[in-house]
Amino acid sequence: MTQLAVVKKAVAFINKKTKNFQPEIALITGSGLAGSIPALTQKITLPYTSIPGFLRSTVPGHTGNLIFGKYKGRNIVVMQGRFHYYEGHPMKDLAISIRTLKMLGVQKLLVSAAVGSMDMKLKPGSLCVLKDHINFMCNNPLIGNHDPAFGPMFFDLTEAYDKTLRKTALAAAKKAKINAGEGVYLAVTGPNFETPSEIQMFKRWGATVVGMSVVPEVLTARQCGIQVLGLTWVTNMGCGISKTPLSHEETIRETKKIEGKFKDLLEILFVKL
Ligand code: HPA
Repeated sequence: MTQLAVVKKAVAFINKKTKNFQPEIALITGSGLAGSIPALTQKITLPYTSIPGFLRSTVPGHTGNLIFGKYKGRNIVVMQGRFHYYEGHPMKDLAISIRTLKMLGVQKLLVSAAVGSMDMKLKPGSLCVLKDHINFMCNNPLIGNHDPAFGPMFFDLTEAYDKTLRKTALAAAKKAKINAGEGVYLAVTGPNFETPSEIQMFKRWGATVVGMSVVPEVLTARQCGIQVLGLTWVTNMGCGISKTPLSHEETIRETKKIEGKFKDLLEILFVKL
């Protein structure tokens, strides 16, 4: 089956379950951030496992649900739990969920994630609004996965992270009293954290934060014309800058501290974007 056929099947299933609910804004929640989702009305929850063709999330802290609902009149869909390359999913398959969102009507995608920071101004608990990325995964979900139904094969990334959305996000962060700045996301495959030498190299390359997701989602979204806002939360300083060894438990623990602040931010953004 082509990916277009897989996506169409997922969309048909979802539309039947939601009675053709058309989400405008999509949110992807990263590690441990599932508790930040603002209270939606007319909520419909579809487990990933129930949706034909959808992947399954295998990481602790990543619940797998597609949640539809309204927030103050805006139509929202949340991907509660995401798919990572390091789980062993073929890179191409990471495009399925994003292309499904596009076909459901999504115009704006908020990608959230936990990150390690290489910027002393962005300590744990800070928000880094992405202004660009460096793809060091050395792979891409669009390779060998072209279908004109999802946009052109060659497309521009001058402003992959929408300038207006970034401005709105920084103003909202200020209002919610969150320490925030803009930065460049460096994508690695994981699952290991980086070495101290890698972190120093990434810093010299101009990266601000490092993580194991975001980029495949953003590339897929930009190809099909979805506007993107990258909201990343610093859970630790990068390896070698951090005084303690890194762990997934630390990531989860630190994101739990951020949950409330992130919810405040999303409540502003769901209305303002
Ligand atoms: N590196 C990669 N991914 C991460 C980190 C990190 O330091 N922290 C949270 N996600």
